[in-house]
Amino acid sequence: MEKVALRAVYNRVARRYDFQHAFFTAGSDQRGRCMLVENAVSRGNRILDCGSGTGSTALLALEKAGPSGNAVLFDMSDGMLAVAKKRIAEAGMSNQAEFKTGDMLSLPFEDNCFDVALSTYSMCPLYDPAKGARELYRVTKPGGLIGVAHSTDPINPAVKWIADRVENLVWHIPSISLGCRSVSVLPSLEQVDCEIIFKKYLGIPLRPFLVFVAKKPAT
Ligand SMILES: C[S@@+](CC[C@H](N)C(=O)[O-])C[C@H]1O[C@@H](n2cnc3c(N)ncnc32)[C@H](O)[C@@H]1O
Repeated sequence: MEKVALRAVYNRVARRYDFQHAFFTAGSDQRGRCMLVENAVSRGNRILDCGSGTGSTALLALEKAGPSGNAVLFDMSDGMLAVAKKRIAEAGMSNQAEFKTGDMLSLPFEDNCFDVALSTYSMCPLYDPAKGARELYRVTKPGGLIGVAHSTDPINPAVKWIADRVENLVWHIPSISLGCRSVSVLPSLEQVDCEIIFKKYLGIPLRPFLVFVAKKPAT
């Protein structure tokens, strides 16, 4: 989906996004976020939550990182970031969070500046998901972690056949699909010698998620 149109969709759905995403994924979206944060974030980390949306992952990550941790919430939708800002303030964590608007395919950060870079379900609407993964890699410190959760194809061919047709139908209703499709970004991180330290499939059969944590080489 074209970027301007996609941004308009997210601005429009921002206030109902959390309910809608949880509903269509039967709550497995939050399980993926928890699993990712549990395996990727440590105390005191400087965290990037890329395509942060309404801040669900950043909230979990800041809790795990503790008072010495901090996070940048980065998203192209001001509407989604406004909801995130409110939630972070309500959690009393505003002093640990920055909010930035921009494009994940061209991150406005220097190389090697985050301990951990996270993306939960924000690779799915990108027109070049592999480039999104390479940007996460670029801004992560050597030895740092890249944690990603995204929609993936069902393994069972019959279920995949049905899922493809549902996806193609839903694709025509952007306020429901949110521009999301199943993607594959793990190979682009393996190609640059990342070590995969955690990998798990979860979710409902028609819409599984892959959750993984990759370690950037230390040198
Ligand atoms: C499905 S939502 C996921 C939000 C959140 N990470 C979560 O766990 O619920 C996708 C998010 O990615 C953002 N997004 C999509 N394409 C983007 C891009 N090119 N640059 C920055 N953000 C983008 C959208 O605005 C939206 O907030």
